Amino acid sequence: MNSPDDAAIRRQRPEDAAALRDVIGRAFEADPEVVALEETLARRSDSTGYVALVDDRVVGHVRLTRGWIDAEARLVEVLVLSPLSVAPEWQSRGLGRALVAHAVAEAKRNGVPAVFLEGDPAYYGRLGWRPASELGVTPPSARIPIPACQAVELPGWEPWMRGALVYADTFWALDCVGLRGDRLARARASLGDGAASSSSSQRGTHR
Ligand SMILES: CC(C)(COP(=O)(O)OP(=O)(O)OC[C@H]1O[C@@H](n2cnc3c(N)ncnc32)[C@H](O)[C@@H]1OP(=O)(O)O)[C@@H](O)C(=O)NCCC(=O)NCCS
Repeated sequence: MNSPDDAAIRRQRPEDAAALRDVIGRAFEADPEVVALEETLARRSDSTGYVALVDDRVVGHVRLTRGWIDAEARLVEVLVLSPLSVAPEWQSRGLGRALVAHAVAEAKRNGVPAVFLEGDPAYYGRLGWRPASELGVTPPSARIPIPACQAVELPGWEPWMRGALVYADTFWALDCVGLRGDRLARARASLGDGAASSSSSQRGTHR
């Protein structure tokens, strides 16, 4: 593959399960719980996965799951992007960027007013994401540094849609929200927990 244009992205199918276990397991070698997260999310009716294929082989994956903003007027349905994985041998060729762009386009088609994720602003900032705090949206856990909670606002976004981001229960059931221990301390130190600063952040600190 020379460019991400050579990769095809399509909806995940049940027969992708074994290949996805391999790709996600290797991409998240330090976070083996992400494989179980993916497999549990895949059983939800409000969650959709997409795979990137090169020569018909699964080499990357992204998932969107329904979440909410707990706004004052009402709950607002949004989408949460997690996890995102590219097989190590296929990284740094634009596949991550292509998968994120595909997910945002799907979220737009879906009609939600915004899509959110927790991740490294040094990576996602270049892809057009910005701190959710700029939209008045707070992270679902105090264990997500404020700059790591990021958003893309879509055409339906309105200024009253402010409040706490709420994740689907699967993320909580599997304890896959934010960071703990040393990794949280490192992310807080590099990102700050308040005003955005993203210069020397950790790689792969979030799902
Ligand atoms: C993050 C990930 C999906 C990116 O996939 P990818 O296909 O390599 O992404 P792209 O090709 O679009 O971009 C690669 C570039 O981003 C950079 N990059 C990757 N992670 C980064 C980070 N956390 N901060 C800054 N830059 C980062 C790479 O160094 C590379 O830079 P280069 O083009 O100068 O070589 C992939 O590295 C991965 O699966 N990592 C392990 C799992 C993970 O961390 N998932 C995301 C959690 S939020």
